[in-house]
Amino acid sequence: MSGKIIQPQQVLQADADGFLKRSVLDLFSLKGRTIVITGGARGIGLALAFAVAEVGGNVAIIDVLWEPHAHFQELEKFDVRVKLYKSDVTSFDLLKGTFDEIVKDFGRIDGLVTAAGICIDEPFLERKPESVARSMNINFLGTYYAAQLAVAQMKKQTRLEGSSQAGSIVFIASIAAYVASKGQTTSDYCASKGAVLSLAKALGVELAMQGVRVNSMSPGYMMTDMTLDLAKKYPHLGAIMTSEPPMRRMGDRTDLKGLVVYLLSDASAYTTSEDHLVTGGIHAGRLL
Ligand SMILES: NC(=O)c1ccc[n+]([C@@H]2O[C@H](COP(=O)([O-])OP(=O)(O)OC[C@H]3O[C@@H](n4cnc5c(N)ncnc54)[C@H](O)[C@@H]3O)[C@@H](O)[C@H]2O)c1
Repeated sequence: MSGKIIQPQQVLQADADGFLKRSVLDLFSLKGRTIVITGGARGIGLALAFAVAEVGGNVAIIDVLWEPHAHFQELEKFDVRVKLYKSDVTSFDLLKGTFDEIVKDFGRIDGLVTAAGICIDEPFLERKPESVARSMNINFLGTYYAAQLAVAQMKKQTRLEGSSQAGSIVFIASIAAYVASKGQTTSDYCASKGAVLSLAKALGVELAMQGVRVNSMSPGYMMTDMTLDLAKKYPHLGAIMTSEPPMRRMGDRTDLKGLVVYLLSDASAYTTSEDHLVTGGIHAGRLL
């Protein structure tokens, strides 16, 4: 590791007119880039796969599921490459084999989104060690392994022409990293998402000089098959999820699409080590 002192002359040599050279639409484009999404066979990950494809990015999805959600087929309508890989983020060796396959198929990896995750609702004293370990393995270690494998590839390949970055990584953390979820007993989930958030901060700093940016997104209550099932099973949770956010509604996965494109693309070239809350205001407080 070497620290380099920047001289005032170098600052003055920088291009102060650079902002005139690239339009906003160009900055947000993911054309020609390959983005890996873990846990993308359904839920938030699948919606983010649409976001990537809609701005021209190729998508490699990694999931334990054999059968993706029916919406997955609709990704075919975009003029990009999309492929689903069956794998498990908790097994480093298996995951390494999957990343090797992705590089063979797509040629490169320019971005990573880690959406694979589980949330077990069980009181603290009833949690079994295996169950806690599973939750930490998927939510935290799975994120760590995927990032390690993605960065190894990003460092090997040549940068895309015109891009200021070697790669961009977006972890899906959660509002649960900040506050306990009302009506739920999910201590290890909250802890695992706190770990994800800290990992993004530390890695963003460690990898900055290598051109890799690392950020996280923390959604609040988002409407997915998982939360809809939860609300059907426990009606009180449905009421909490819609009435607690100051905006008085659950988030729609659409609410995350713009942010993930921003974070993956050159539009956020100077943003790293930051968490981005999308909660309808719930992280800031409650009116009633
Ligand atoms: N839904 C919400 O309200 C909400 C809010 C905040 C954060 N999150 C986070 O967003 C992410 C996605 O949540 P979701 O609501 O879409 O859930 P989901 O259950 O619909 O999707 C999770 C996906 O991860 C996959 N997965 C699970 N274990 C895996 C493993 N070992 N290897 C590979 N894939 C695996 C699942 O098969 C599934 O496709 C999770 O990390 C979750 O914690 C969700």
